[in-house]
Amino acid sequence: MFTPRRTTVSKFLIEQLKNSPDGQALAALLIDVTAAIKAISAVATKGALEGNVGSLTTTNVQGEVQKPLDVLTHEIMLHHNEWSGLIAGMASEELEQPYDIPAEYQRGRYLLMFDPLDGSSNIDFNVAVGTIFSVLDHGKDSVPAEADYLQPGRRQVAAGYAIYGPATVMVLTVGQGAHGFTLDREIGNFILTHPNLRVPEETDQFAINASNERFWEPPMQRYVEECKAGKSGPRERDFNMRWIASMVADVHRILIRGGVFSYPRDEKNKNGRLRLMYEANPMALLIEQAGGAASTGRGRLLDEQPQALHQRVPVVLGSKSEVERIEQYHREFDAGTDKPFVSPLFNERSLFRKEARA
Ligand code: F6P
Ligand code: MN
Repeated sequence: MFTPRRTTVSKFLIEQLKNSPDGQALAALLIDVTAAIKAISAVATKGALEGNVGSLTTTNVQGEVQKPLDVLTHEIMLHHNEWSGLIAGMASEELEQPYDIPAEYQRGRYLLMFDPLDGSSNIDFNVAVGTIFSVLDHGKDSVPAEADYLQPGRRQVAAGYAIYGPATVMVLTVGQGAHGFTLDREIGNFILTHPNLRVPEETDQFAINASNERFWEPPMQRYVEECKAGKSGPRERDFNMRWIASMVADVHRILIRGGVFSYPRDEKNKNGRLRLMYEANPMALLIEQAGGAASTGRGRLLDEQPQALHQRVPVVLGSKSEVERIEQYHREFDAGTDKPFVSPLFNERSLFRKEARA
């Protein structure tokens, strides 16, 4: 509903950052990111009308086949942000090396990293996709080396994502809570609609690509087995499983509904699947800011020291107690003190009796 007193994202950022040193520059940078997100929202929602479906013959740095929109959205992010004089350099999922600000523009002190179109394998069948971004402080306006980007996630000065679903929603943080804004398409403004998001603590949902189950480590297998056993298992209540295969959509659900999202390491993806710098870190900061937790399974995600720009990392995030339980299962497994889960459907009294796992 329109009211003249609605809080636009610009007003919100200027207010939130008014007392931080260099806060107005950071606010201006984030307003430029918002402009890029509005442009991406416009092109992404045109779908086949703009030829935005199908695949290209090119692959990105991860060896993944690119979609026309992967390339276009990457360029939108670069060109909406390179001119402002606020950014020292950028890094994108679609570019092997960091992007240097062209000589004709001034540089600033911030590093902007992004996944321009997360979940893009879903584009052809019109499932929600998104943009994820992370801002670090380089502290000076010199050309950054790759090593300057390799800061642990706890040093992010801002992070956020946009989800292009039935509505375009952006969630962001500058370290003072996580806040959601909905795009009013007619007016072209993001309006504060979800102030102070809190991950619900009570949860009965988990999100994981269960087709990888046989490749997971035992602690993850144990957690999911226990959820699936529901009322008849040790958790003594039923769980639901959700997997959109679009991280922005899965994480957005967790911010609103609670639950746990995981892309753990497995035998095929030894370091996990998701990228640390521009997927896991920004989502981890948002989730922590909303009172949840984010872990690699073996430690706080935001404390992970990056070794490379495009490195992958195992991810477990969401409601705190569930993330802590998964960490506990990893600790017990590493210490050799875990008890593998045995489903009540397969125990001694069951019709389906079989050997317990070794
Ligand atoms: O960017 C990686 C990504 O597309 C995420 O958005 C999503 O969570 C995941 O990969 C899906 O992986 P899978 O194809 O294994 O389900
Ligand atoms: Mn992605």
